[in-house]
Amino acid sequence: MKSMSNPVIDSLKEKEHLSILFVCLGNICRSPAAEGIARSYAEGKGVAKRFDFDSAGLYGGHAGELPDRRMRVHAYQRGYNLTHHSRPVRSSDFEDFDLILAMDDSNYSRLRAFARTPEEEAKVVRMTDFCRSHPNADHVPDPYYDGAEGFEKVLDLLEDSCGALIDTLSNN
Ligand code: 4NP
Repeated sequence: MKSMSNPVIDSLKEKEHLSILFVCLGNICRSPAAEGIARSYAEGKGVAKRFDFDSAGLYGGHAGELPDRRMRVHAYQRGYNLTHHSRPVRSSDFEDFDLILAMDDSNYSRLRAFARTPEEEAKVVRMTDFCRSHPNADHVPDPYYDGAEGFEKVLDLLEDSCGALIDTLSNN
């Protein structure tokens, strides 16, 4: 795994409770799917009580909306019921969350620029750093203008990375 040697990740392994924020552009496709998948995986592993999951977007134009219908349908077919309501990233997220997962390079650099201190900046990590079955993946592609295969690809990458994220933080 690409983030195995990340000191921020290593320090979180010993922490009793962890708050994790997933971030994409609109917070209606990728990040709410990541939130739902991570929660479901943590429940399946019996470690859900240790984690809080949330998601947010760098573009606030969809604030208040449920995830995109196409994302909800594709996720539901894999057993995930996505009920998050879109919200924009806020500066307090950098205090409230231990780890902020960015879906792509644009999300990553905008979040890092948003951070006010080196400690806040270090909380921002790429989601695909955790991929195990997709070792060459370097971003979760925006599916908004794609067809069904784009949404399936997002789910494949997120199931892989969210599972590895929870396992890594659980020392598994
Ligand atoms: P997301 O997808 O960042 O995965 O939620 C998008 C949703 C909406 C837009 C772009 C990407 N948009 O431009 O409205």
